[in-house]
Amino acid sequence: MNHLNSLRHVLAASVCLTAIGGSALADKLPPEKDLSGLEYELIGRTDLYDYRALDSYSEAPFLADMAAEGKLPAVKDRLPKEPLVFKTGAMVDGTGEYGGVFRHVIGGRPEGWNWLAGQHQGWGGINMAIQECLVRQGPRWQIKSEDQTGPLPNLAKSWSWNDDNTQLTMHLIEGAHWSDGDPFDTEDIRFWWEDNVEDENVSSRLSKGSLAPGAKLEILDDYTFRWTFSEPQSETLVENLAYIQGCPGPSHALKDKHPKYNPDATYESYTNAMPGEALPVPVMGAWVPVLHKPDELVVMRRNPFYWKVDEKGQQLPYFNEMHFRLSTWDDRTTQAVAGSGDFSNMENPANYVAALKQSQSPDSPVTVRFGKRALAWRLELNFSDIGAEDEVDLALRDLFRNKDFRIALSHALDRDAIGQAVARGPFAYPYTGGFTSGSAFFDYDSTAYQPFDQAKANAMLDELGLQDTDGNGIRNLPNGGDDIEIDVIFNSGRNETRKQLDAVISQLGEVGIRIIARGLDKTNFETARLGGAFNGMINRRGFPTLTREPCNNMPISASCPFFHQSQDGERTLLPFEEEIQAAYRTFISSNDSAEKLQMTRDIQRLITENAYVIGTIQTPAALLVNRRIKNAHPGTPVYMFEWAEDGIIRERLWTPTAEQVKELLPGTIAEY
Ligand code: GLA
Repeated sequence: MNHLNSLRHVLAASVCLTAIGGSALADKLPPEKDLSGLEYELIGRTDLYDYRALDSYSEAPFLADMAAEGKLPAVKDRLPKEPLVFKTGAMVDGTGEYGGVFRHVIGGRPEGWNWLAGQHQGWGGINMAIQECLVRQGPRWQIKSEDQTGPLPNLAKSWSWNDDNTQLTMHLIEGAHWSDGDPFDTEDIRFWWEDNVEDENVSSRLSKGSLAPGAKLEILDDYTFRWTFSEPQSETLVENLAYIQGCPGPSHALKDKHPKYNPDATYESYTNAMPGEALPVPVMGAWVPVLHKPDELVVMRRNPFYWKVDEKGQQLPYFNEMHFRLSTWDDRTTQAVAGSGDFSNMENPANYVAALKQSQSPDSPVTVRFGKRALAWRLELNFSDIGAEDEVDLALRDLFRNKDFRIALSHALDRDAIGQAVARGPFAYPYTGGFTSGSAFFDYDSTAYQPFDQAKANAMLDELGLQDTDGNGIRNLPNGGDDIEIDVIFNSGRNETRKQLDAVISQLGEVGIRIIARGLDKTNFETARLGGAFNGMINRRGFPTLTREPCNNMPISASCPFFHQSQDGERTLLPFEEEIQAAYRTFISSNDSAEKLQMTRDIQRLITENAYVIGTIQTPAALLVNRRIKNAHPGTPVYMFEWAEDGIIRERLWTPTAEQVKELLPGTIAEY
């Protein structure tokens, strides 16, 4: 059975599938043509891995030599009491051979290694290679619907709820170590939660107050901890503890850099406590960054303390080395097609046709597999006064809070033309906000659409009193105010975003709204975004589930979404935002699957009916993997529960010895 349909089926269990409650949605999206070519069998939840002690363990030969020379403890002493054991039955090519390199190419640059303070390492799978999180979402694409009972375990090997679901108790793997040999335990959890998440001076990825009302953490022993919530919650809440929100950091390396423990430290110095070039840093991930040549390359070597094994007892990962070539996102696809890179999420539609043609030649080094539409772009208008510089900014933001203004802008967009500007062919489909059509939660009947209708857009803008009072072709703010000029920031490293913005500029220009494009590099873009220093922003955003970085999409805590931040905790949410917030809370806390399903539909309706964001297009993406890579499951979607770098389970990938790429730093591990 098709997985997406089956998941939908489960969520729909006991609910009538015809229109439920809600308002009649006047305009509907055109029919969609699905381009997905993924085919796969689904497996049970415990078929992927479990936790158990094996009779014996083995390791990469060069580590065995180091252990024999006394340079490392024996492998059994480096592993936890019960390692995570990947099952052979779920590996498409079976257990692997050690050695070689897995070569990534990415467009981002490491900001620094302090992920607890919100720093990223350059995306494209590098963050995920070093951060391990309490639970895991990526591989859930492979789990059959009746076993979709929540996230998969990871650092937390199990958890349980009390009777009224107000307490969640989690159990960590016991006896695991950071890559420098320091014990991994609940002190790392306490530090992550108390001194990062709960400290509002730290830009933690899990934002304060977003997990659940009244969440309080208690440490019970070295490997057990418990949250108490002021209201009952459900298993769904645990999804919030997957990448990128639930990933503890090395407390032993960071505590004395934190202002709470060190009077000389500041929050700025803490954020930068593990700067880009200062390597290695302690990680729980399968590879440890050991060398960073800015704008060139990050080299990672296998983590001798990694806590996962295969059923033969071989310590993972199989690859000794992992590379991240620091280039551009487009180059990631070019290099994968050429065979000089091993992996790409092909997400730049302009390259799709050429890449497909090249990959179809019989000697092509790469496989290309398209999934459902999971990439979506949207214009976000800032509703908050934070970051506004003058009266004009304030007047614009006032306007953005007006539903008719947003709906008018949405009607002014010709999404077919935007799609064709990005890529000729059948790839693009209109996006109107909310779940992407490839999401298991997408519901056509709950999706409102504002089709291209310039006359209607003009009439609505006229109705709002936004006339072109000075006759220069641009409408003015009410009462003879300034021209309506909206600065829109975008990440200048993303060509497909730029192309869409160009189309949006000309289309909105035709209804008298001037857009001024402000391309920023990724770091400045993030700074502007976090500080509210933008009136509009256009960005690619996936929306596969409600729990993946919910702060990007919904007003669930004071600092989110980024386009409606509160000042000192104070803000006035629009009535439909309050409804979204309440529906999200019900979704997270309810144990009734019919009610949960209804909440996903309500949120979809509220977002699209109110044009909370102004969607442009959504496209499928394709996964490109070099043919020498084994265990790369052909069903892996680019973006479903998490990005493919997580969904493909890299610690389990391998290459036969004869085809291995030469290591740059053979025989070495991180030296602390
Ligand atoms: C970037 C890339 C995506 C994916 C993610 C992983 O956003 O564009 O394709 O690799 O990083 O975090």
